[in-house]
Amino acid sequence: ICRAFGKYTVKAPTNIALIKYWGKSNEDINLPLNSSISLTVDIEQFFTQTTIELNDEKNQLILNNEPAEITGRISRVINMLKSLTKPENLEKKIKIESCNNFPTAAGMASSASGLAALTFGLAKAYKVNISMEELSGIARLGSGSASRSFFGGIVEWSAGDSHEKSIARQLYENSHWDELRLLVILTDLEKKKISSTNAMKLNRKMLLERANERVPIRIENLKKALEAKDFENLAKITMEESDDLHYVIEAANVKYLNAKSEEIKKLIHGFNSQGIRAAYTFDAGPNPFILTRKQDINDLVSHLLISLKLRSHNDLKLHGQLPNDPFLF
Ligand code: PMV
Repeated sequence: ICRAFGKYTVKAPTNIALIKYWGKSNEDINLPLNSSISLTVDIEQFFTQTTIELNDEKNQLILNNEPAEITGRISRVINMLKSLTKPENLEKKIKIESCNNFPTAAGMASSASGLAALTFGLAKAYKVNISMEELSGIARLGSGSASRSFFGGIVEWSAGDSHEKSIARQLYENSHWDELRLLVILTDLEKKKISSTNAMKLNRKMLLERANERVPIRIENLKKALEAKDFENLAKITMEESDDLHYVIEAANVKYLNAKSEEIKKLIHGFNSQGIRAAYTFDAGPNPFILTRKQDINDLVSHLLISLKLRSHNDLKLHGQLPNDPFLF
């Protein structure tokens, strides 16, 4: 954990997409091909902590305790917030110190929490008082998925056709469906070899078909399942969407899933053979996020431990989402 040396220290959570963002209609401002829906991960489990200091020295970024380059995506966020701050702040240099309490760039949505924390922290330092929805749009300029980390519970990022319209909003608070639980199994902590930004540029035709034909139906059905708290349909849509994403990715000769990811997919289908009680979903990485309900968590964990021949949940590195109460094994 990095030290909080400055006045403006913030923390932002990651989120896991149930309906994925994959492909852009505008690369300059990260407008997506389709709207997406996510579940915000408990902020105490996976988060980025960012400290911002305005000083007279030089612009500086320290990422996970190492000096890092201020990339184009970070500059876009900085420049947008600069355009909204008072002139006297513009003379100041920015020192950003940021760290994740989980593996960076291993398909664990580090860019989501990272860019959300950066946007939120800079807005505080620059005293830019705008709504969370508007901030979500600014974070989008850095990383699309970051727009969804500004709210808890279940969040929708509307694709929109302009900067102003492509923003996120909360669909439901955690309390809407507080039996939901999320587990993460860390199968590989390596950084991914091809970034999502680059992979999203491949196979445009397939990306458009997915975004225009299959995703809108899934969004509609997912919203119905969420409203009705229909776990079976939530699970089916979630797995179908994850499989569809990786089908499109693999058709472009990129592979994010590894042998353990495939094994865990099979284990979840096995667990569901008597009735659907769990769903996996993978972002651009091999680590599964598994959705289940509170009443099934012990069975699911036993099933995973026995099948994966592990001794304890520490080996699995399970993390629970804690909407209201501590997650107990
Ligand atoms: O926001 P980015 O550029 O890190 O892209 C995220 C893409 C996925 O994680 C695979 C899907 C999503 O909606 O989060």
